[in-house]
Amino acid sequence: MLFETQVEVRANKILGAEIFLLTLHAPDIARAALPGQFVMLQASPSPEPLLRRPMSFCQIGPSGSPATGPETFRILYQVAGSGTRLMTRLVPGDTLSCLGPLGRGFPLLPGGHPRRVVLVAGGIGLAPFPFMAERLRGSGIAWTLLYGARSAGQIVGVDWFRQLGGDPVLVTEDGSVGEKGFVTAPLARMVEEDRDGIEVYACGPDPMLRAVARVCREGGVPCRLSLEAVMPCGFGVCLGCGVEANRPEGGYLRICTDGPVFAGEEIRF
Ligand SMILES: Cc1cc2nc3c(=O)[nH]c(=O)nc-3n(C[C@H](O)[C@H](O)[C@H](O)COP(=O)(O)OP(=O)(O)OC[C@H]3O[C@@H](n4cnc5c(N)ncnc54)[C@H](O)[C@@H]3O)c2cc1C
Ligand code: FES
Repeated sequence: MLFETQVEVRANKILGAEIFLLTLHAPDIARAALPGQFVMLQASPSPEPLLRRPMSFCQIGPSGSPATGPETFRILYQVAGSGTRLMTRLVPGDTLSCLGPLGRGFPLLPGGHPRRVVLVAGGIGLAPFPFMAERLRGSGIAWTLLYGARSAGQIVGVDWFRQLGGDPVLVTEDGSVGEKGFVTAPLARMVEEDRDGIEVYACGPDPMLRAVARVCREGGVPCRLSLEAVMPCGFGVCLGCGVEANRPEGGYLRICTDGPVFAGEEIRF
């Protein structure tokens, strides 16, 4: 079910270097959301900018009551340009136009019955994984988070995963926290050690997703990739978010409606 509604800002907290956690009161959307799906959110209560911005569901809840279920959802966002900069000025009580939930998210039950789902996050690509890890835990499926960022200031939310029973593997490009290098290094080790027992879900910048897809392809491990694009509409009509399809007849897939989550073999990077 899709809702177009006014959502109310409940909190807007800074967590790291230009990284914020926005809490929105929107019961209909919160109850319908699935991990890996997203909303199109107005960046400011003023009419500018005109276009809403795509943002993933990061966390759902808390519940209004056991009978009503969740009433809020959270968005983890990083300042990228004018719209996300305006979002940093949002205060409790502001109302924003919001459309969602949109898109196809991560599978709730991995296809090949793996022993473990490996969540691979690059930078703000962490955003969909608190919700995903919570659902995996609820389904009794083991998971591991590999979380890479440029440096320690961009690492946020690690405690959310520890509270869910996880022990995130941290990697930074400058070595300021965790292992030094790229998140694909511990991924390659996991694929080497347990290629029959894992499935990979990844979200992050395109170069990281390409590298994840390559490691998984070479290791014969299934992967699901959450892609990004500039999204003018978010619901399939503007054709502004195409990605080349990996199929004999060629053509394009729309990231907003066919994705944002794709099986690695569905797309041609
Ligand atoms: C399905 C989906 C879910 C997303 N979820 C989140 C999230 O949870 N948290 C978060 O911080 N960001 C998320 N993004 C990215 C976010 O939508 C963009 O960063 C935001 O729209 C930029 O708006 P802006 O006005 O600040 O920047 P603009 O001024 O529009 O652009 C600034 C720069 O960012 C680039 N840019 C704009 N949009 C995107 C994009 N979608 N992907 C990559 N580069 C872009 C532009 O080309 C430009 O270089 C998501 C994107 C998609 C497609
Ligand atoms: S954003 Fe308009 S078709 Fe995908």
